[in-house]
Amino acid sequence: MENFTASAPGKVILFGEHFVVYGEPAIAVALDLRVEATAYRCEKSIVEGLRTPLVERAIEEALRFVNRSGEAVCVRLRSNLPISVGLGSSAATAVAVIASITGLFGVKPSRDRLFRMALEVEKTVHVNPSGIDPAISVNGGAILYRRGWGIEPIKLGGDFTLVIGNTGVPRSTGAMVEKVRLFAENHPRVRDRLRAAASSIASEALEALEKGDVEKLGRLMDVNHGLLEAIGVSSLELERLVYAARRAGALGAKLTGAGGGGCMVALVAGKRVEAVVEAIRKAGGEPMVAPISRVGVLYGNG
Ligand code: MEV
Repeated sequence: MENFTASAPGKVILFGEHFVVYGEPAIAVALDLRVEATAYRCEKSIVEGLRTPLVERAIEEALRFVNRSGEAVCVRLRSNLPISVGLGSSAATAVAVIASITGLFGVKPSRDRLFRMALEVEKTVHVNPSGIDPAISVNGGAILYRRGWGIEPIKLGGDFTLVIGNTGVPRSTGAMVEKVRLFAENHPRVRDRLRAAASSIASEALEALEKGDVEKLGRLMDVNHGLLEAIGVSSLELERLVYAARRAGALGAKLTGAGGGGCMVALVAGKRVEAVVEAIRKAGGEPMVAPISRVGVLYGNG
């Protein structure tokens, strides 16, 4: 049976989530945890593996791109990326599904085209996606992203480890983005000040990342977390993990992604990694040392 496999990575946002929806810069790193999609010809379309409504939109988008709208295609999904916890599983699924189907029909869209198709699919998850999730999933590595401007790859200097803590509390990106929209609408002056602060944090963080100034990066993550708390997207469970990581010696810690549950991320110097992992576990979270990936979308099996 003719088939085609493609995979795409998840991500962790280090700076600027939510503010990126309003045009401010944000910084994300790809994780070496991937969603893999295998597309094959069949009589009646079926999706095996992950159950997520956006796969159908991704199939439609891909079939339109290869001029096969309405034809049947089957997709098998596998993932070692935790789903719906703020680590970009929706975008990784959209990118992998589109790449597998276009690959099956012998076409390879440009990265920019693939990004734009996945961005359309992201609208199934929430109405106003900034595009940061599909951008990092397509490109891999570390990027500065600004809505409407695209990406700037970042060369990471310095030596640090990212430790992720999953609260295990389910959340909806759409609901959190909507909560922030209401806040922004009701407090336009406060919103503008917070946006300006988020933008300064992201530009200082870019410099610190490139120079490898990990202490500064950590402090900026703490400040960024404060802004996210201020706009109402933290939670008691996230705060517990953030404080536990800081107390155990993390250089900085913040929630990552949409918030309201899901994951936090801590920046940790080598010798404190074990202590931070243990502290997150003791505070009720599921810790994970984040494997960073240089590679974005992958066509074929390797
Ligand atoms: C979700 O990973 C990041 C948000 O900023 C939403 C978006 O950028 O589309 C919360």
